[in-house]
Amino acid sequence: MTEVGIDAIEIRTGNLRLDLPNTFAPQKGEDPEKYTKGLGLTGSSFPDSYEDIVTMAANASHRLMERKGLEPEDIGRIDVATESAFDNSKPVSTYVAGCLEQVYEGDFHHANKGERKFACIAGTQSLDDAYNWIRAGRNRGKAALVIATDTALYARDDPGEATQGAGAVAMLIDEDPDLVSLSVEQGYGSADETDFLKPNQQFPSVDGKRSVQVYLARMREALEDYKSVAGDIHPNDFAYGPFHTPFPGMVRKAAVLAYRNLIRDTDIADVMAEEIGEQPRREEFADDEAFFDALTEYTDALSGTERYQDWYTATIEPTLGIAREVGNWYTGSVHVARISALRHAAEHDTDLAGQRLLVGSYGSGAQAEIHTETVQGNWREEIEALNVDEQLESRYELTFSEYEEIHDAHNHEMDTEVEELTTPESEFVFDGWGRMGERK
Ligand code: CAA
Repeated sequence: MTEVGIDAIEIRTGNLRLDLPNTFAPQKGEDPEKYTKGLGLTGSSFPDSYEDIVTMAANASHRLMERKGLEPEDIGRIDVATESAFDNSKPVSTYVAGCLEQVYEGDFHHANKGERKFACIAGTQSLDDAYNWIRAGRNRGKAALVIATDTALYARDDPGEATQGAGAVAMLIDEDPDLVSLSVEQGYGSADETDFLKPNQQFPSVDGKRSVQVYLARMREALEDYKSVAGDIHPNDFAYGPFHTPFPGMVRKAAVLAYRNLIRDTDIADVMAEEIGEQPRREEFADDEAFFDALTEYTDALSGTERYQDWYTATIEPTLGIAREVGNWYTGSVHVARISALRHAAEHDTDLAGQRLLVGSYGSGAQAEIHTETVQGNWREEIEALNVDEQLESRYELTFSEYEEIHDAHNHEMDTEVEELTTPESEFVFDGWGRMGERK
């Protein structure tokens, strides 16, 4: 069976940077270490006044098409995943196609366009849709362009404000991919939850603490479901585990849960049983509360073991490098984590071809998906073609008052305009609602 997966990938960050420990924390009267050590964040990407989900998506896609030498006729499908859409009828992909058609001779009239919504997991769902479309043989030899784009902004003074971010990830999905192939097997955990909602409102209503618990519960279910179709998997089967990263501290919690789940019924379980005791099982306890207390105690002990810490350092920590500097990109977040991991491997001259990734996606509301990916032979060339450092380093550093002004300017309920803080060059820019993507 021909492999299908991600052939190429590009990112586009918002052009502004908010320093969380040094600029944001002091204004909030908070200890900078809440950000650096607790949440695991140093900076967050923020959109300049001329940037939005369309411009970031179009800029990432344009770079990807140029680098791969693609024309519109090579692309048979454009899907945008976002939870920051501004149009309840016309999908964001049509706006993005409109931008790209300004710079290519051909157009995308033949391409199937759509928009996917399920909070942050929608990026992975769009990836799955493209995979299925190609596998079904409906792609007529063309590739799919999948774009995950979000301005992850919270109302000012909401606790979520600490975890904001803005950016887009564009992915080319094709047969014989250069970067990673996707597994046929997937595992899901899904439930009707109300911890994070945006019912016809720009900024989310969030029950932050509960949202963390829901993430963990759905991820545990998805791991169980994955194992039910793929069989037991060993934690050491994977080079990296890119997970949805609203902030790195969340992944710290998810990783130990995943490890606890994955070591059950493996040789590691025996070693751990000797070191910290057996994993508690529900049937051994009279009620849920007693069981969860025992599980928490076991998980804490597990996270303190050398074996777990070594696994975390090798498999999870490298996925968090970019997230620490950009914050939450919602739909793009797990795809940023994959890029972080592959960049880490390239920087350390690791031979990754043929190795596997354990990919954990999550969206509030809520659903988790586990699938695995196999790194392809040309991965290094692909990943080294990205200009992530250049983009991150050239962001404009916001003062707190500039941050307040630009936040107000992006707030749809406020009629505030601000000067551009950066100068867009050869980029798609937002120039007023309804006049998307005018090229400066
Ligand atoms: N030194 C070291 N650590 C510190 C510290 C200090 N001085 N001060 C605080 N911390 C630690 C805390 O102990 C805590 O860590 P633990 O959870 O491991 O205990 C961490 O820093 C955060 O501190 P708080 O819990 O006090 O922070 P908070 O009350 O401001 O809320 C939050 C944190 C709930 C995540 C909030 O930022 C929020 O609501 N974020 C948006 C929702 C979100 O991202 N949820 C994640 C799951 S849902 C999801 O993943 C979908 C999505 O993308 C939104």
